Amino acid sequence: MDKEKLVVLTGAGMSAESGINTFRDSGGLWEGHDVMEVASVEGWHRDPEKVLEFYNSRRRQLKDAKPNAGHEALVELEKQYNVVIITQNVDDLHERAGSGRVIHLHGELTKARPVDSEEPIWDIGFKDIRLGDMDEKGRQLRPHIVWFGEMVPMMELAALEVATCSKLLIIGTSLVVYPAAGLVDLVPEHAPIYVIDPAEPEYRFQSNVRFIHASASVGTPKLVKELLVATS
Ligand code: APR
Repeated sequence: MDKEKLVVLTGAGMSAESGINTFRDSGGLWEGHDVMEVASVEGWHRDPEKVLEFYNSRRRQLKDAKPNAGHEALVELEKQYNVVIITQNVDDLHERAGSGRVIHLHGELTKARPVDSEEPIWDIGFKDIRLGDMDEKGRQLRPHIVWFGEMVPMMELAALEVATCSKLLIIGTSLVVYPAAGLVDLVPEHAPIYVIDPAEPEYRFQSNVRFIHASASVGTPKLVKELLVATS
């Protein structure tokens, strides 16, 4: 029998307990920077070196981070569900925990591509990108990150997954950044939505929602246990 499709939408709160700071909990500053200076197309044109250095330090920080109990619990769900993780995070902690299917809406820190092209995309691991690092065609490399002001290429695929799921879990996202937040409106009418977040996102949910006011590392294993029991 086909497994039920369970989609998990994750945001910065998912990785907070792995030591990676969220964006909006720190007063609109991301590691001391105005998000628009370091994560936008304008920011790149204004000061590419600063943008590269910003992502280089995020990448170095990621190297020492480890998946938390929340990431690990989501892997367990694969025993009984067809799990699709849609993450706004640019870290690789879901993959390192062992999740099989992860869609990165906002790109990936451990990948690079040429400035003016969507591809090719290279794995760079935890290596820095510097001004002057070129591909074989002489194009400057940039992080494979979706900045403010850019299209979100994985949206179409993500929308399809949400529209065909039977359960939606939302973990650690403020749901203020679009188009990612709009995915929630695509959930089928009868599919339950579970939200794990110490603070409730200010979002007008359409369907039946259950809020679990807990951190990702505490709330996720609890809910996963419940969801696995529910189908056994
Ligand atoms: N466990 C679960 N949730 C948490 C935790 C935790 N330990 N700590 C904080 N949170 C919650 C906060 O309450 C908040 O609702 O995580 C959410 C983090 O929200 P944001 O910082 O806005 O992060 P996110 O929703 O992922 O931002 C979306 O904005 O800057 C862009 O591209 C960036 O992908 C990012 C997007």
